[in-house]
Amino acid sequence: MKTPTRPPSSPSSRQRVVLTDVALRDGLQNQPQHVATAAKAALMRALAAAGVTSLEVVSFVSAKAVPQMADAAEVIAAALALAPVRASALAPNLKGLERAIAAGTREVAVVLSCTETMNEKNINLSLADATRVSCETLRAARANGLTTRGYLAVAFECPFEGPTPAERVLELGLALLAAGADEIVVADTIGAACPADVQRLLRGLVSRLPIDRLGLHLHDTRGMGVANAYAGLELGVRRFDASAGGLGGCPFAPGASGNVATEDLVLMLEQSGYDTGISLPALTSAVDLAGELLGRPLGGHCMPWLRRRLARDAEAGEARPRREERADRR
Ligand code: COA
Ligand code: ZN
Repeated sequence: MKTPTRPPSSPSSRQRVVLTDVALRDGLQNQPQHVATAAKAALMRALAAAGVTSLEVVSFVSAKAVPQMADAAEVIAAALALAPVRASALAPNLKGLERAIAAGTREVAVVLSCTETMNEKNINLSLADATRVSCETLRAARANGLTTRGYLAVAFECPFEGPTPAERVLELGLALLAAGADEIVVADTIGAACPADVQRLLRGLVSRLPIDRLGLHLHDTRGMGVANAYAGLELGVRRFDASAGGLGGCPFAPGASGNVATEDLVLMLEQSGYDTGISLPALTSAVDLAGELLGRPLGGHCMPWLRRRLARDAEAGEARPRREERADRR
């Protein structure tokens, strides 16, 4: 399938956008049913086969708090076998980092929520303690030669405290950067932002945080995930989290629904002339596999159109040899 792109569209002139698929971590952490390690590995392989080059696959957290992540070490081992695909793990504290390193993880993310209550609900720490723990975890990760990401969760709105002050997001982002975060990921954990909010916050951040080290993690609760990504794109953001099939949500943040779907972002980006390196037909197969694993159909906003287009292309592909056969007979 060829995605229509606007000129200039030669591969060399298209700007690269890196998508990190978080379906295995943000997606599965919120699912009521158990997904076997082998099934997670199959989903990772399908995503890698579609051209996804960065995956966030597990969190090293308490199995009591998030039972779906109890097999984190085995899942990371399966992800590492997919190298050069980058495999990242959430590690909110030193204990998580220790487990991640023991399992061979090369890239970790800390998660610092921008409000008191969200930190308490998520990792049982005050904002000040969560900042200290996130920073010490980043420093230790860097000292061990790992690549690091620092999530700023509920950067727009907190389900408990309402709108998040932009100055606090900047202050916490600078703290994570100073502690050694290679990338700062601004997260709309509950999907409350609109494109104007995204641009307002980013404009405030980019004066102090380099745009090439900023990523966006968006949820699609209000259907504005793709529009919010485009708002970030316009300001120069080139790294986005997304989730195959739109899976996602935080068990500790009421109202958080799925992440912006990877297929929606790929379609928007490729059609807008950017290069994601991801094949939509192969990504559709990965989404189908995720749906099979969870026992329900999945898919972003574009999926009904995408399926029709793929079916049409398949039909055209079948029709072509028949015409050739007719020509042979003449
Ligand atoms: N992985 C596994 N176990 C951990 C751990 C980690 N990263 N951090 C702490 N623990 C263990 C401790 O060793 C201790 O074990 P013990 O009872 O056998 O001695 C137990 O958990 C309690 O330790 P404590 O430091 O008091 O942690 P806590 O109970 O305050 O919980 C978290 C802290 C971070 C482990 C827990 O809140 C958690 O796992 N939260 C989930 C966060 C998450 O995944 N959110 C969604 C994504 S943003
Ligand atoms: Zn999320």
